[in-house]
Amino acid sequence: MFKKILYPTDFSDVAHKALDFIVRLKDAGAREVVILHVIDKGSFDAIARYATKDILEIEKNLEERAMAEVTPIEESLRKKGFKIKIIINRAVPFMEILRVEEEEKVSAIVIGSHGMSNIAEMFLGSVSEKIIRKAKTPVLVIR
Ligand SMILES: Nc1ncnc2c1ncn2[C@@H]1O[C@H](COP(=O)(O)OP(=O)(O)O)[C@@H](O)[C@H]1O
Ligand SMILES: [Mg+2]
Repeated sequence: MFKKILYPTDFSDVAHKALDFIVRLKDAGAREVVILHVIDKGSFDAIARYATKDILEIEKNLEERAMAEVTPIEESLRKKGFKIKIIINRAVPFMEILRVEEEEKVSAIVIGSHGMSNIAEMFLGSVSEKIIRKAKTPVLVIR
């Protein structure tokens, strides 16, 4: 049931906490993790509009920063014996997560209840809420 896990992360503390649970899913048959980070297209377009710096440069910086955040996550999961695939794309986060869910034919999604915005009054974050409503596979939500 949990062979291939989709782990979308915005590198927030809550998303980081989900890692422990992925490791614990090994006993339930988890073998492979797709680590997905989506560079928010809306935020990117806003930055690009007002930026004085070269847009390609900004894009390269964002991708490099994302890769730098992904690398330690990848290493720690590899050490635990998982097969890893990394996907970093610029898109609308919830849409990209749902697209990758289908494309990679994952068996479950492990996601944080909240993310970078982390508004305590919100029952769920905006991305996690949409994923729970629209995903085809089981979603494990980590608080
Ligand atoms: N840009 C993103 N790329 C990949 N995963 C994301 C992204 N944004 C959010 N997530 C996932 O969704 C979870 C909930 O985040 P979100 O709904 O955005 O909460 P908030 O509204 O507090 O930012 C995160 O912990 C992470 O697992
Ligand atoms: Mg967010």
